[in-house]
Amino acid sequence: MRVELEQAGCVVVPMSEHDLLEVVEIEETTGLSQWGWEAYRAELDKQEAVMLVARRYTPDASNGRGLAGYIAARINADELHVNNIGVWPESRRRGVGGALLWAALEAGARRGAVEAVLEVRAGNLPAQMMYERFGFRVVGERKGYYREPVEDAKIMTRRLATAA
Ligand SMILES: CC(C)(COP(=O)(O)OP(=O)(O)OC[C@H]1O[C@@H](n2cnc3c(N)ncnc32)[C@H](O)[C@@H]1OP(=O)(O)O)[C@@H](O)C(=O)NCCC(=O)NCCS
Repeated sequence: MRVELEQAGCVVVPMSEHDLLEVVEIEETTGLSQWGWEAYRAELDKQEAVMLVARRYTPDASNGRGLAGYIAARINADELHVNNIGVWPESRRRGVGGALLWAALEAGARRGAVEAVLEVRAGNLPAQMMYERFGFRVVGERKGYYREPVEDAKIMTRRLATAA
């Protein structure tokens, strides 16, 4: 799997162990649910994991960053659960998040998932806009789902195209 994003200067490819230090850095600095290195490392070995990065063609000269962003999702039976998606601030609004999301949805559909589901902070409007743009709709909420700070989650889902 390889999706070129020439305008954003990167390519979407499967995540490898070498990406994990920067993935964790993105996670820690963009307000995402904190998994940490060990959890991502363990996840990489799981067959049901869908983990992708947007790798820059050349590392950013100013900060050495080799990635633009990443997504971590997992297939549970016929459902693709999107756990975390993050893009470095300087790479946002160039289609990176959308490309990562789309690639994960396609990977999930190819592997038999018929629905994608995710939780998002009720106040995270940029992410909600992106999910809506990619066909997700709010189907419910979970009160007090998030910690630090405590916040409700919106549950969003979308159907996935089936191979048939
Ligand atoms: C949410 C996030 C991943 C989006 O990444 P991105 O690379 O900027 O997304 P894209 O450029 O592909 O945007 C796709 C679409 O989403 C919507 N969108 C994204 N960011 C938006 C914003 N700040 N305001 C309004 N709409 C936005 C737009 O419709 C956009 O399309 P457009 O630029 O053509 O209008 C990024 O803002 C991020 O990392 N945020 C912090 C981490 C986070 O909140 N993750 C989600 C946890 S559930």
